[in-house]
Amino acid sequence: MKVAVILPAAGLGTRMGRQSPEKEGISRKQFMLLDGRPILLHTIHKFEACASVTEIVVALRREDMEWVAKLLASEPRAKPVRLVEGGDTRQQSVENALASLASDVDLVAVHDAVRPFIDTATIERAIHEAAACGAAIVGIVPVDTVKQVKRNKVHGTIPRERLVLAQTPQVFRFDLLQRAFAKAREDGFTGTDESSLVERLEQVEVSVVPGSDRNIKITKPSDMDLARLFLAEESRHRKAS
Ligand code: CTP
Ligand code: MG
Repeated sequence: MKVAVILPAAGLGTRMGRQSPEKEGISRKQFMLLDGRPILLHTIHKFEACASVTEIVVALRREDMEWVAKLLASEPRAKPVRLVEGGDTRQQSVENALASLASDVDLVAVHDAVRPFIDTATIERAIHEAAACGAAIVGIVPVDTVKQVKRNKVHGTIPRERLVLAQTPQVFRFDLLQRAFAKAREDGFTGTDESSLVERLEQVEVSVVPGSDRNIKITKPSDMDLARLFLAEESRHRKAS
């Protein structure tokens, strides 16, 4: 079975609020350093450690492709890692990577490059579930009560037992994901994750695999404090085991 991983890493990191147009590369969040290494490298490592992963495709902004290629070549790689140019939206970045895959790929796992705290066991569980059912996402149940609102007025309460917060990876049969992207393009639909594109096809039910509240999407400056804490804990666990 061939399993390709797509890591969209072509964003601007606007909410991190630290990029200035004249400063390139290292200033964007996917390249911010944790323990001296860019976040993207931490994420790549997690997927390189997965037995069932066959290749990794990273979508990057054009100006980052050269220096990231050098960075990746500077150490031994456990899996083939390819770079493609991303697009103006996350969806476009993933679509570009998808278009670069060989036709014999069976499953595609899409994972935000800025979620370095995913664990290998969860990736394997999502892959296993998608192999069986066609589509699987990692998700966690919310701890807060979720309200529907109009402006600042509450219009209803959504029963919490019916809610899941979608994380990544999201894993799909390659043909299914291709069809989902083709239909989204046809309909001019833009979603914030791949599952929403696949759900619109109404062809398979998407399974949910339990995630973790450590699998954060590094988004805002305070997330870096959490990230440093999680990283320290990860290396403590490694030493203990
Ligand atoms: N991404 C991408 N191409 C884009 C936009 C986003 O590949 N055109 C990637 C980001 O690099 C990130 C992932 O999609 O790894 C999740 O996106 P998000 O957390 O929103 O990152 P940014 O778009 O970079 O941040 P912001 O929305 O704050 O600008
Ligand atoms: Mg974004």
